[in-house]
Amino acid sequence: MPRFIPGFLLLTVLLPQTLPGRQPVHARHAMVVTREPHATDAGLATLQSGGNAIDAAVAVAFALAVTHPSAGNLGGGGFMLIRLASGASTFIDFRERAPGSASRDMYLDPATGKPTQDSLVGYRASGVPGTVRGMEYAHAKYGKKPWKSLLNPAIKLAADGFPLSYGLSQNLRSANTSARLARFPETKRIFLKNGAFYDFNETFKQPDLARTLKRIRDYGAKDFYEGRIAHLLAADMAAHHGEITLEDLRAYKAIERKTIEGSYKGYGIVTAPPPSSGGVGLLQMFGMLESTGYEKSGAGSALSLHYEAEAMRRYFADRAEYLGDPDFVKVPVSGLLNPQYIASRRATIDPAKATPSSQIRAGALTAYESTETTHFSIVDAAGNAVSVTYTLNGGFGSGVTATGLGFLLNNEMDDFSSAPGHPNLFGLLQGEADAIAPHKTPLSAMTPTIVTKDGKLYMVVGSPGGPTIITAVMQVILNVLDFHMNMQQAVDQSRIHHQWMPDSLSVENTVSPDTIELLKQRGHTIRLTNAMGEVAAIRLDGQWIEGASDGRVEGNAKGY
Ligand code: DON
Repeated sequence: MPRFIPGFLLLTVLLPQTLPGRQPVHARHAMVVTREPHATDAGLATLQSGGNAIDAAVAVAFALAVTHPSAGNLGGGGFMLIRLASGASTFIDFRERAPGSASRDMYLDPATGKPTQDSLVGYRASGVPGTVRGMEYAHAKYGKKPWKSLLNPAIKLAADGFPLSYGLSQNLRSANTSARLARFPETKRIFLKNGAFYDFNETFKQPDLARTLKRIRDYGAKDFYEGRIAHLLAADMAAHHGEITLEDLRAYKAIERKTIEGSYKGYGIVTAPPPSSGGVGLLQMFGMLESTGYEKSGAGSALSLHYEAEAMRRYFADRAEYLGDPDFVKVPVSGLLNPQYIASRRATIDPAKATPSSQIRAGALTAYESTETTHFSIVDAAGNAVSVTYTLNGGFGSGVTATGLGFLLNNEMDDFSSAPGHPNLFGLLQGEADAIAPHKTPLSAMTPTIVTKDGKLYMVVGSPGGPTIITAVMQVILNVLDFHMNMQQAVDQSRIHHQWMPDSLSVENTVSPDTIELLKQRGHTIRLTNAMGEVAAIRLDGQWIEGASDGRVEGNAKGY
């Protein structure tokens, strides 16, 4: 080392190849990224005690049901995308299904024919929950550690309690959440401390939930779907005019589906098939952008954002028309992903001007989606990868806590078109392919995704955020592949979202005013928003694994 180092050299010496911004969490062997530190710890401990990524995912899912009650759940459902170290991948659909009594017009007011709030709030809003069956299925087929050991961290967190985070304590106090939750006495008792509210850092214990989790540990999913838990849940439903019966619970099955696979600029994309609309969306949007050279104008530039927005708008028009539960409606996946079709969509993008949505396709937008879901990404030392998005749909779901059982129920029925052919709550028309039918699965935007490079695992990505899930996942992947960001920068970068209707471009309020001005000049109607999405992502970069949680929330990445 020379004695005197000029200033500019010193900088490069001290910051070798360091990119500006928060650095990802680095590890050599394995990584867990979730929405919440206790859940991350449960996953990491599972990996370090001999579990694989699937075991860790199960432990995380049960832990989040305790520590992140707005979205983590026993009473909801979701999707698990797995890529095994062998290179094989699979998709477990444990999303809620419509109860047997469900019918197309069940959420229309008979007097006015207009949609009611019943698909969003209260006992009638819930689809049959899938999480417990889904976790058991994933574990039985792909897990390694004993089932019981995967429930123990969650049981301990529920029984002994954990210090409430700033974010959760504020969320529970917020006018919006507390008013909705206070309508249900059991929910008010448990989550609002009977109206007194829990403080930041106060220990939050959930003895009812601990008991339920112990039964699931000791008797398996059978207890939840056929045994004591099922009987209590069905009785509570019956007492409150809910739709879910013992028969519905008994009939619930997780469905293993083939992943959707495609590529972008030579990288492999492994992603979510219908009833997720996300995988089709991701591949359509990638297809529309590929070969345009949109990225040459640089990350965050008005031109690159314009191109992304135009691709989003075109995909979302198709989503409303064609996507639904493939077991009930024919979803033309290969047509939607046909390269010639995608090229014809690409050809209509004008680099200088936004195409008004009304000129793209008159049609319907699917159901209202909002406010809380959660994603976690896990890679183990053997190279198995798991990407899970699961949810109650809205924050704290339907607001209902099953009496005596301690867990919240979903309001996933609202992801159906509750009024096909009628404007929805936002004045939009809804899709016929997503109409309600008994045992049908509501269309989802959840998009757990894995990217491969030269046939090897490269990235694990996913997010909550309703329709913004699909566009967040797309932008994070593009930030790495096209704009050469590390995993953390890719997650931190400001996001935009267009969903065709309404014809406005949502832009996070961290985007520069000059950029927004240039987007306006291209004809976009701008809607400034707070954070969109909460991405949990992992990238394998040579020797190192990069974990990136989302600074928009209290996300947490840890590895070893
Ligand atoms: O499955 C879906 O698309 C929605 N139920 C997801 C809702 C959601 O992401 C809310 N989160 N922020």
